[in-house]
Order: sequence, then C-alpha cells, then structure tokens
Amino acid sequence: MNRKKQALPYTLPDEFQAFNFATELLHWYDTQKRDLPWRINRDAYRVWVSEIMLQQTRVETVKPYYQNFMRKFPTVEALADAPEEEVLKAWEGLGYYSRARNLQTAAKEVKETYGGTVPNTPEEISKLKGVGPYTAGAILSIAYEVPVPAVDGNVMRVFSRLLLMDDDIAKPATRKKLEHLVQQVIPVGRAGDFNQAIMELGALICLPKNPQCLTCPVFDFCLARQEGVQNTLPVKGKAKPPRPVSLLAAVVKKGDQVLIRKRPAQGLLAGLWEFPMLEDLSNEDDEEQLITALEKEYEIATTANSYLMNVQHTFSHLHWDVEVYVLQYEDGELFSEDARFVSHEEIRKYAFPVLHNKIIDQIYPVKDNV
Ligand code: ADE
Repeated sequence: MNRKKQALPYTLPDEFQAFNFATELLHWYDTQKRDLPWRINRDAYRVWVSEIMLQQTRVETVKPYYQNFMRKFPTVEALADAPEEEVLKAWEGLGYYSRARNLQTAAKEVKETYGGTVPNTPEEISKLKGVGPYTAGAILSIAYEVPVPAVDGNVMRVFSRLLLMDDDIAKPATRKKLEHLVQQVIPVGRAGDFNQAIMELGALICLPKNPQCLTCPVFDFCLARQEGVQNTLPVKGKAKPPRPVSLLAAVVKKGDQVLIRKRPAQGLLAGLWEFPMLEDLSNEDDEEQLITALEKEYEIATTANSYLMNVQHTFSHLHWDVEVYVLQYEDGELFSEDARFVSHEEIRKYAFPVLHNKIIDQIYPVKDNV
C-alpha cells in the first residue's frame, strides 16, 4: 500500500470519475436493494427519523422501532407536540437516547421556524440539533436530491477499499477527505440513490469481515481487491476500552409497588427512569450502602430483604456491573417530583434503560405481563 497520500484537493482515479462507476453501482442498487420501511417514499421527515435511528444501530433492529415511531408520530408536528416521556418510551431499548431528545427538539424548531417543512439547504439543516454532516448529507440527497455526500463509518470502509486508502478512519480529517472524494462521483439527478447504494454495498457486500468481492458490482474498480488487501482495510485507530464501573441498585418494595426515579435531564440516559443506584465506592456492606443512600436522598427508611441479581451493560465508554438488592420500605414520606412508587401495571408505561428492564423482567416475569 504505497500510494502517496495526497494533499487537498484530492482527486479520484480517472476510472472512478467516468460515468461507469456510478452506472454499475446504481444498476445493482436498482435491482438488488432491500425493501426497507423508510424507502416507501422520500418524505424528508421520514428520511430524517430513519437516519437518526440508523446511527450506531443495525437495520434489522431499527425496522420495528421505525414503524412504531412513524405510527405514533407520523408528522413533524406530531413529534414536536408529543410529551417527551412518550418519545423516550418509543425509543426504549434503541440506546443513545440523546438522539430521541435531540430529534424532538429539532422537530419543534422545524415546526416553529420552517412551518413544519424540513429545510433543504445545508446551512439550515445543519443547524438542527443532532444533525451532523452525515445526517445532513443523507436527508438532503435522499429527500431533496441535493448532490452532497453522506459519509458514515460504512461508507468510509467501502471507499477506503475502493481507493486503497490507509488513512485512519477514526480521524476527522479522513472523513473530510472522503467527503471531498465522494462528492466527485455523485451523479446528478440520483444523489440519494447513489448515497444509499454505497450504504447498501457496505451492508450487503463490502462487509467489515470477509467482504463478498466475487459478487461485488464494482469489483473491477476496487483497488484494494486488485492488490488483495481488502481484508486489511480500513485502518481504524483503537478506541479506548469502556471504563468499568461497579454499581449497586435497590428494588425498594412497598406492598405491591416499587420505587423508581427519573434520571437527570442531562447526561447519560437522561430523562429515563431507573431503580435507585449508586456507585459502589466503599468497602461497606452493599445493602448498608443502599439503605444509607435512600435515607439521605429520599428520607425513607428501608431494611435489607434479599439479593436479586447481577446485571451488566456496556456503553461505548463505560461498562456497568450492577449488583441488585431487594429492600423493604419501612417508613417515611417520599418528597420528590422525580421519584415515586409504582405498581406492576404502571411500571411498563415508563421508559427504562435496557439494564433496568432486565431487573423489571426478573421481578415481574414477562409471562405475567400479557
Ligand atoms: N444506514 C444508514 N442510512 C441508511 C439507509 N438509508 N438505508 C440503509 N442503511 C442505512
């Protein structure tokens, strides 16, 4: 891999600039593309929601969430006017919940500033909360045919191979370089299909491991394949491993109710509900730590009951290891807006992180919930 790194402006090899590359790719896309629920039409709101959901999340996971979300919030106005709790509930289990909150904030902005029509210029659309360069490019090209690139991790993998590029795709400069290069091959009039065809190629053929080169529609163009190095690309700098955090959680029982609380409006899992938790920083007995914290924070008295389970969850930057205990409520009035005792029936109306839903499934087995 001894191609020289180019300085801007980067140019593509001649064979890519020729009409042929896009023609071959689009012909394949037209005949092989998947039937996906966001491809029914090119409504900008529908495209927008799909692109936000598809960030960091697999297509198969997104499909049912997308359909449910569009049923509940079919228009920009419906989303803008919905209670945040309902939006988070519809996002429950998808992760990266700031996506949902930002999407709703941006929907309010579109309703108020643009009369409910998603803007169609790079300048305006990029101002919306949660809309970065990739999402802006995807919406503008798919919904409005604006000839701009939409470069995400999958597209970077595909083009690193096609162009035999060993630039580190974890670096922002590499994305910029690739945006500049992809811009040069976008065919006028089919920008949206072209960008989606590249994504489709990344999802079906140009896989991270074992790319399916023999069935690739642009086999003849791929410089990495010509050198036999497709499996070594792209180059990606190592991300830091998630930091381990030990936590304790309490299921506080009061009759047939349990205590839940709302997480702060900012930060990790903001606005979701959870069982009270604390970081296990001391050598003190786990249940004693929980009892003391509940007394201090909510002025309620509890006693130890039983050990329930261990649950774990890995975020991009953190690994949570949680020991969960059942405590018995004894005394004290709960004076808090953001903490409440709820029954078995009520609890399912609240949006919880996946880890806390595992606890709910343990205390109220799913067969009881039908
Ligand atoms: N990943 C991100 N956007 C996508 C789209 N529009 N179709 C398929 N996969 C995608």
